[in-house]
Amino acid sequence: MSPGKSGMFPAVHDRPVSGLRRSRAVLVTGAGGEMGHSLIAELSARPGTAVVAMDIRELDPAVRSQCENAFVGDVCDAQLLERLLAMYEVDEVFHLAALLSTRGEFAPETAHQVNVVGTMNLLKLSAEQARSHGRSVRFHFPSSIAVYGIPNLKTKQQAGAVREDQFLEPHTMYGVNKLAGEHLGRYYERHYRKLAKDRMDRPIDFRCIRFPGIISADTLPSGGTSDYGPEMIHAAAQGHAYSCFVRRDSCIPFMTMPDAVHAMLKLASAPKEQLTQCVYNVAGFAPTAEDFERLVMERFPKANVSFVADPGRQAIVDSWPENVNDAAARQDWGWNASHDLQQAFDDYLMPLITARYG
Ligand code: SER
Repeated sequence: MSPGKSGMFPAVHDRPVSGLRRSRAVLVTGAGGEMGHSLIAELSARPGTAVVAMDIRELDPAVRSQCENAFVGDVCDAQLLERLLAMYEVDEVFHLAALLSTRGEFAPETAHQVNVVGTMNLLKLSAEQARSHGRSVRFHFPSSIAVYGIPNLKTKQQAGAVREDQFLEPHTMYGVNKLAGEHLGRYYERHYRKLAKDRMDRPIDFRCIRFPGIISADTLPSGGTSDYGPEMIHAAAQGHAYSCFVRRDSCIPFMTMPDAVHAMLKLASAPKEQLTQCVYNVAGFAPTAEDFERLVMERFPKANVSFVADPGRQAIVDSWPENVNDAAARQDWGWNASHDLQQAFDDYLMPLITARYG
């Protein structure tokens, strides 16, 4: 548990909860992370949506101001989660907190705690919430292309865009954890306490997207292995030299942050009867590291990009697919990315990044 300002208890910035009735709220864990920033901006702009945030660190004041309440603490801290859920009637959870793939390889057991035990804590407490208010809780879980583990480059090239059920033998603890999270979510939705006489049917409405690498104009990722894409672009915009840690021919799928948030919200609002599966791939574009370099050099001709592959991180990227097949997402809930690679640069990254760094 991360002690808050009081020392003994996590910091909780309470606003009065009206009367004895619990206020309804949407809970966002990992709220201070890259996706949290963008998702909270969208959620808080919706009339009548009270966002309760949770993160291991204090939130940026700009993000904090968009939330009804913010809890500083760890998703493994069941007491904190219980306290939060005693204050709010949570109908919907966006569980974003996670340790990414590179960081996870330095501390695999910690990654398991945060990524799996934390997820199970939240699923269990969400199921209890559902029982207490008699409605299933929508649980949104960002999974990742890290769940895939392709044995070698030849197989990767032959596989092309992989379906949700292929190559599920991840090479990283993060991928193992995300795959476990997918299974846990499906279990809590369909089978939780199967043999209990007083069981509630479908306490959790579990909706999961396997995201590719995500590129934001506003924030930089940390601890991931797809980080070379966003790092190269942000470094060039700031006039910094960048040494890319994978080979030029490395290829995995990416998408922009607005598309990622749009995907999550679109799946969140899809009628349940249209959803034929709990877990969906979503595709954006699938550039090589060299494609990134080319576009960066076109936009920032003075950029200094070199390539020095790190064998460990390269092996992780080589085990991820070149692209994903997102036919099910298109079919079931009308998924369609708004940015291809060119549009990502021209319509999204360049205007915002150049304004940001000047
Ligand atoms: N961005 C993640 C990572 O690199 C993959 O989904 O770990």
